[in-house]
Amino acid sequence: MQYRKFGTTGWTVSAIGFGGMPLSINTSRPSEEDAIKVIHAAFDAGITFWDTADCYCLDAADFGHNERLFGKALAQLPAGKREGVTLVTKCGLTRPEGRWERDASPAYIRNAVESSLKNLRLPALPVEQYHRIDSNTPMEDTYGELMKLQKQGKIVHIGASNHSVAEMTRALATGVKIVSLQNQYSRCHRNPELDGTLEFTRQKGIAFLPWSPIDGMGGAKNLGSKHANVAKIAAAHNVSPQRVALAWLLSTGAHVIPIPGSTKIAHVQDCAAAADLALTPDELALLASEAPQQGPPH
Ligand SMILES: NC(=O)c1ccc[n+]([C@@H]2O[C@H](COP(=O)([O-])OP(=O)(O)OC[C@H]3O[C@@H](n4cnc5c(N)ncnc54)[C@H](OP(=O)(O)O)[C@@H]3O)[C@@H](O)[C@H]2O)c1
Repeated sequence: MQYRKFGTTGWTVSAIGFGGMPLSINTSRPSEEDAIKVIHAAFDAGITFWDTADCYCLDAADFGHNERLFGKALAQLPAGKREGVTLVTKCGLTRPEGRWERDASPAYIRNAVESSLKNLRLPALPVEQYHRIDSNTPMEDTYGELMKLQKQGKIVHIGASNHSVAEMTRALATGVKIVSLQNQYSRCHRNPELDGTLEFTRQKGIAFLPWSPIDGMGGAKNLGSKHANVAKIAAAHNVSPQRVALAWLLSTGAHVIPIPGSTKIAHVQDCAAAADLALTPDELALLASEAPQQGPPH
């Protein structure tokens, strides 16, 4: 495993993270016992950067499911090892009857942080990210509340997710220190190269965390058949196309830390190995020669 600086936090994390969403959002999800085995397999493969969210669950009654899995998995690691893990969570989305809705009002955020602390079994959230902008709440109010909670010691670092350059600029004007931006970025969704967010974060020393980095829960399986050059390079290295896609993402900036999700130990191990896959300059040039495609809005 290779390691990278996590923004301006002074922390070092694995270059490949682990995204927890597939462990929680479908009724076909694994049992708690199996899910924790997958999280531990990620740790054993060197992945010390775990991405969760309070809303990764089936519905409102199940809210916090994914955080509780990560909280339990972390607590089960021996003391001396668990301190090496950086857990990133998110707030601001709700799941009434399984729908995805937004609430980033200060009162809601305050309660969400208290719940996440309980779910994750931590005295402070290492990183709390504002998940997706709620147009009913001025972001100054949301970030104001997050900064209050940070001053109270409940949050160590604040991150953003699904923000444009203009939204990041407005957020930073509140005085908040944002350590990470988590936006969609993959071979089939290269918007961050086109919308300026990849370059903006690089210039500001903010970590960029590509979500759905191997084309998402619906697209990951067919990645090789959709991207001929990725498949060709994968065949040359005798590795999976998913591994090549992750190695390519790592090449797009030293501040980039992809967070692939999975329910299978073998897949987690495959993704972890992407950190050690060196693509040649010719291979990177071939991948760069494909014009970036703008993915659909999410
Ligand atoms: N901030 C946001 O708004 C946002 C939105 C979406 C996601 N996220 C975060 O980003 C993480 C990753 O995104 P994602 O889970 O949507 O998409 P993804 O990581 O691009 O793809 C996940 C899918 O890839 C499959 N997979 C994983 N490794 C594989 C491998 N080596 N070979 C073949 N298939 C493989 C998994 O299937 P198996 O289960 O069969 O392994 C899973 O269905 C999420 O888990 C979540 O933490 C954030």
